[in-house]
Amino acid sequence: MSELVVKASKLTKVYKLFAEEIAAVNNVDLEIVSGEFVSIMGPSGSGKTTLLDMIGCLDAITSGQLEILGKDVSAMAESRLVKVRRGKIGFIFQDFSLIPTLTALENVQLASYFAGKSQKTQKMTVFLEKVGLGPRVNHLPKQLSGGEKQRVAIARALATEPKFLLADEPTGHLDTENSQEILNVFKQLNQEDNLTIIVTTHNQKLGSQTKRTIYLQDGKIVS
Ligand SMILES: Nc1ncnc2c1ncn2[C@@H]1O[C@H](COP(=O)(O)OP(=O)(O)OP(=O)(O)O)[C@@H](O)[C@H]1O
Ligand SMILES: [Mg+2]
Repeated sequence: MSELVVKASKLTKVYKLFAEEIAAVNNVDLEIVSGEFVSIMGPSGSGKTTLLDMIGCLDAITSGQLEILGKDVSAMAESRLVKVRRGKIGFIFQDFSLIPTLTALENVQLASYFAGKSQKTQKMTVFLEKVGLGPRVNHLPKQLSGGEKQRVAIARALATEPKFLLADEPTGHLDTENSQEILNVFKQLNQEDNLTIIVTTHNQKLGSQTKRTIYLQDGKIVS
């Protein structure tokens, strides 16, 4: 049965900068259920990252309501938000954010440790194999290509055994071929493991391959 992963009602984020107020996300209503693969598209500054950060409980909301996995996080204190983030959400960023002095395997193990999950080498290797990095487990980030680094980052997110994945411009630093490979990994995780994935992208070709695309403009959903 499908479970509501995200339920946003009149979700709004206003940034105050000196005398100016910017409604980065403006009265957004949105529902995402488990098993969906959603892309969020729109011009630069349209609010994609802001929306994703609120869904990821990384940024406080200004007004409206937001439920994540059935929990109202709208007014939750940071100490409780940390628990939602850590136990349930896997994050993937444009710049990979790997620890340069740790191998692929150790990067995955560290994330698992912080999530309070088992760090057994065998189990961690399965996550790396899942993203096609079996032969690269002992490589340092600098010994990996951009596409491979992003695959380590995906394995690291999976190791926390999240309920859903959030990826902000995961292919922003990759060429066409590597971007497609990363998208293929997401597709496979969505199809085979029924993992819910929400991704922001500027790339029309990638966006068109997800099951649903949400277009933002000036902080509002336009289609
Ligand atoms: N911390 C902040 N303080 C003030 N304004 C901000 C802050 N973060 C974002 N904004 C503003 O909010 C709006 C939405 O920004 P956001 O980063 O969500 O856009 P985006 O769609 O992700 O853009 P991009 O495609 O360039 O990543 C922009 O006008 C931006 O300048
Ligand atoms: Mg952004």
